[in-house]
Amino acid sequence: MLGREKIKNLLGSKETGKTVEVKGWVRTRRGNKKIAFIAVNDGSVIHNIQCVADVAEFDEETLRAVTTGACVRIKGTLVESMGQGQNVEIQAEEIEIYGKADPETYPLQKKGHTLEFLRTIAHLRPRTNTFGAIFRMRHALAFACHKFFNDYGFHYLHTPIITGSDAEGAGEMFRVSVLDPINPPLKENGEVDYSEDFFGKETNLTVSGQLEGELGALALTEIYTFGPTFRAENSNTPRHLAEFWMIEPEMAFYDIKDNMDLAESLLKFLVSYVLEKCKDDIEFLSKMYEPELINRLNSVLDNDFIRIGYTEAIEILKSSNEKFEFPVNWGLDLQSEHERYLVEKHFKKPVILTDYPSSIKAFYMKQNDDGKTVRAMDVLFPGIGEIIGGSQREEDFDRLNRRIEELNIPKKDLWWYLETRKFGTAPHSGFGLGFERMVLFVTGMGNIRDVIPFPRTPKNAEF
Ligand code: 4AD
Ligand code: MG
Repeated sequence: MLGREKIKNLLGSKETGKTVEVKGWVRTRRGNKKIAFIAVNDGSVIHNIQCVADVAEFDEETLRAVTTGACVRIKGTLVESMGQGQNVEIQAEEIEIYGKADPETYPLQKKGHTLEFLRTIAHLRPRTNTFGAIFRMRHALAFACHKFFNDYGFHYLHTPIITGSDAEGAGEMFRVSVLDPINPPLKENGEVDYSEDFFGKETNLTVSGQLEGELGALALTEIYTFGPTFRAENSNTPRHLAEFWMIEPEMAFYDIKDNMDLAESLLKFLVSYVLEKCKDDIEFLSKMYEPELINRLNSVLDNDFIRIGYTEAIEILKSSNEKFEFPVNWGLDLQSEHERYLVEKHFKKPVILTDYPSSIKAFYMKQNDDGKTVRAMDVLFPGIGEIIGGSQREEDFDRLNRRIEELNIPKKDLWWYLETRKFGTAPHSGFGLGFERMVLFVTGMGNIRDVIPFPRTPKNAEF
């Protein structure tokens, strides 16, 4: 055994009679003057192990410190449990208190706090059943992403977090600078002189690893990135974070159909992985928050995703009798109300929309021959809306160059990207999966702030 004994393993053990030792945090303490029942949790599993202590065997001061939230080490004999809900328990022989938690002031002394309140104590909320379950599932999903791509021969490419180009246009950026904010060096025309800044130019936190990912794909053929991305938009919604994680595969020789197939297989694999590996956590979350959770997860596995074009989707929305806040017209950038109507009411399964108007999509998407649309694809999920955005990329130098000029994107920031179209260009495609939106989907939670340990949203970076 490496390190300590895990409660997860002990609860599944049949080796009664053996001396064992657990380390963890007290969830509850019940009992009477003679006997104490101490439920200990170490985060390895949602369940606690029950430790039974004969009050007479321990000194008073130690037992007094065994309160909810305290950190303890308990050694004893693993015995069959007479109590309900567990097969084994520990007959305690030694109790050591690592850290007390004053019952008068410990914020999680009582159960049943709201998720809103727990957000204000993000430093302690991992100690609740809910957040334990969510963060274990978040881990499982991250691991499953790496497994999926590794099994298919993709290479994990680390793209930079600090970027010198702000050309992707995916959103407002956070500046990275070491200049004195009160007295920055100025150019003759009064603008800040970033040539004196750390990197000798303006730099920002990346909004996406895609452009650098494309450079990798045009050499290693299949790559993926998995890293933090940053958007300084003031979107205070249950589905937006200012700092979120994105998985971005990029593949040479994939067309839009291959891209859709990969997206659908990835999403199905991730769902089946957590269904298999996170049963207890899913059961807990569905009982507490979303009774339909398991059905919803299974429906992703059991159905082929619907694949339709944007233009057809607009027709469906127009002929529906829904009252949308944003009126539907060809050219509209679909809002989440439209996406959710298509997925939840019309088709009742995941939908992949393709061939969007070029005016609402990024410059790098492959232009269709109609001159109006691009080979974009968005995957829309029930309860979430857009979970994936991607496209086949424009590999033709002249067409890409023209588009960059039309949109007045400064070429000095993008010369390296354009060179890939000059030297050995290849058809290629890719997409970005919003990791937290995926965690939202598999946990059934309603707010993206509850599926990342330390959410970054407008006016919130306390922890
Ligand atoms: O659609 P987006 O902006 O696409 C890109 O950034 C492309 N460069 C991806 C690519 O083709 N490689 O973002 C991709 C996904 C969205 O579908 C959504 O799931 C998630 O990232 N996302 C966000 N998640 C949380 N908070 C935000 N503010 C998000 N913005 C996008
Ligand atoms: Mg998008």
